[in-house]
Amino acid sequence: MNQLTRRTFLGAGAASAAIALGQLGRSKAVAQTGPAIRVAQADQVVNLYSSRHYDTDQALYDSFTAATGIRVNLIEAEADPLIERIKSEGANSPADVLMTVDIGRLWRAQQEGLFQPVNSTVLTQAIPANLRHPDGLWYGFSKRARVIMYNKSKVNPSQLSTYENLVDPEWRGKILTRSSTNIYNISMTAAMLAAHGPQETEAWVRGMVANFARPPEGNDTSQLQAAAAGVGDLAITNTYYLIRMAKSDKPEDKAVAEQVTIFFPNQRDRGAHVNISGAGVVKTSPNKEAAIQFLEHLASSESQQIFAQSNNEYPVVQGVALDPILASYGSFKEDTINAATIGENSAEAIRIMDRAGWK
Ligand SMILES: [Fe+2]
Repeated sequence: MNQLTRRTFLGAGAASAAIALGQLGRSKAVAQTGPAIRVAQADQVVNLYSSRHYDTDQALYDSFTAATGIRVNLIEAEADPLIERIKSEGANSPADVLMTVDIGRLWRAQQEGLFQPVNSTVLTQAIPANLRHPDGLWYGFSKRARVIMYNKSKVNPSQLSTYENLVDPEWRGKILTRSSTNIYNISMTAAMLAAHGPQETEAWVRGMVANFARPPEGNDTSQLQAAAAGVGDLAITNTYYLIRMAKSDKPEDKAVAEQVTIFFPNQRDRGAHVNISGAGVVKTSPNKEAAIQFLEHLASSESQQIFAQSNNEYPVVQGVALDPILASYGSFKEDTINAATIGENSAEAIRIMDRAGWK
């Protein structure tokens, strides 16, 4: 999605118009409804710039509004255009919260100086330290494991072990994955950099490229479809793409999920690579208190259940149940590398992937 799109609780319209409508709504509410405190909350809004591309997120916003009376005005686009937009809007930006689907883009926004520190014991107590910025510039609210998916009729899981082992000639022409412009792959390579340093990482990327089944194309769903169709034997994807297909009403999606399954790599060493979807409060946020409340709401068990049940991600808060279908694939050891380290390494990961020919 290159065009900015927008969905608000008030319907379509520019952000400023939505805010103006909100103010209109307030005067009506004062005239028509009851207790003052409810009216005071009803006009509040949080302007959320989000690159999360999941329709199920509406449930997060609905539950926040139900809990606080604060509306969510959603501006949805890919992360880089959102970052550019906040920069160009400058001090007048209506953005309160920037939310992304990966640490790499949070890091980029941090480097651009777009976030302000949020000091919240609700957040620091709920979210493990490796999944948030030490000064509260951003917080992770869900985890996504990027794993090896394999076609069950072509691969015996005993052949699989680690990401590192994927460069073995055994897998020549058999690995499916998307482009190196994709931030999920950049973050995976950045985690490899933290584990092995630049030389070994470059050798690993070259070995991966040598084993690709085809030049990278499509998204994670495409890789799973291609693995099921036998274009390759293995696909590198996030787990929630497979779970979405397993839950789909479409027979062709279900067929993919029956043919392809998850292998969690590196269980005897650092663990499977995990990325975060997260958010921070924008430095110029006009509704800072509402923005902090929104982040705190995302760490509530109610929201964490929505991340888990609706989009099949892994919750960051302990004690929140996984989606049962995701849980049926088993638990796993995850790489507990600090998300900030992945962000720091991402620029070098891109240079290495370019040099090594990962298209
Ligand atoms: Fe995704």
